[in-house]
Amino acid sequence: MTEQNTKITIKRPDDWHLHLRDGDVMLMVLPFTAAHFGRAIVMPNLTPPVTTVAGASAYRDRIVRALAPGGDFKPLMTCYLTDHTDPDVVERGYIEGVFTPVKLYPARATTNSEFGVTAWGNIRNVLARMEKIGMPLLVHGEEADPEIDIFDREAVFIDKVLSDWMTSDYPELKIVLEHITTKEGADFVSESGENIGATVTPHHLTINRNDILAGGIRPHLYCLPIAKRDKHRQALREAVSSGNDSFFLGTDSAPHPISAKETDCGCAGIFNAANAIEVYAKVFDEMGALEKFEAFSSLNGPKFYGLETNDSTITLERRTHLVAEEISSPSCNEIIRPFLFKEEINWLVVDC
Ligand code: DOR
Ligand code: ZN
Repeated sequence: MTEQNTKITIKRPDDWHLHLRDGDVMLMVLPFTAAHFGRAIVMPNLTPPVTTVAGASAYRDRIVRALAPGGDFKPLMTCYLTDHTDPDVVERGYIEGVFTPVKLYPARATTNSEFGVTAWGNIRNVLARMEKIGMPLLVHGEEADPEIDIFDREAVFIDKVLSDWMTSDYPELKIVLEHITTKEGADFVSESGENIGATVTPHHLTINRNDILAGGIRPHLYCLPIAKRDKHRQALREAVSSGNDSFFLGTDSAPHPISAKETDCGCAGIFNAANAIEVYAKVFDEMGALEKFEAFSSLNGPKFYGLETNDSTITLERRTHLVAEEISSPSCNEIIRPFLFKEEINWLVVDC
């Protein structure tokens, strides 16, 4: 698979957690994901959110129409869970092949989560149905109580929700703890059964909270869950390079225009779709674990979802290159800063 570790060819990866947005921004960001990835789980936190089978199907059509001809990228659609979600709708969407997972946002935990869940009793009927039909639940695992310190919100959620009742009351439910940021998250998943997985982002493997806050505030590194102390980043790096197949790739690429990031109350989200796979390669290389890179990127996710792996491949080479300062397009008024803009990355996609 590697030629003296300077070149690596892996099965085409999938992105199991992606924000594509809609309209002009979607047209601008979609080609980056479609170039490298075979499939992506598309997040439903549009305004209004994607809560119906018809809404998800129409959103999927808009994405497919926006793809360049000849590609074989496949968007997998997600149902946004609210207090009022009907289990019959969820099941119908799943059986018809429109919904792949359901996404749980605790209300007010993050961007466009105001329609999320306000009381756990409201979703028990949906969770029971999903457990029965084998449909995965993706969890934004942060306690939304504003009294809880922002750096503790993931650990508190694991304690109060996942450990306390969700995994015991629904022992067979497939759960993905999304974009984990803590040692507690990595340990929870490692110690759970094979129906519990986690996605890990390129940015949480790369930055810690000092990178956001020390020596000046860097709004383009602000996302939710927020990056934690360095010991947590180290724990995530150990987890992904351990070979444990419960951990898989999910970029959480979340574009916001510069104007919404560099302002009094900036939005959470990091746009990394352009270089995500290169950043992951760099992390695995630094961990001395390039032989585990393909499983994390291209095998563990399909296994969790019960899907085939992709047939085609992608090749990366150890070659230093500079990340662009901005992403723009003639068809869109917005400008976006990519993750690690104006910095160097020492792995480059050379064939895909
Ligand atoms: O940083 C984030 N951005 N975290 C999320 O949970 C949502 C996302 C977004 O949609 O911008
Ligand atoms: Zn997300």
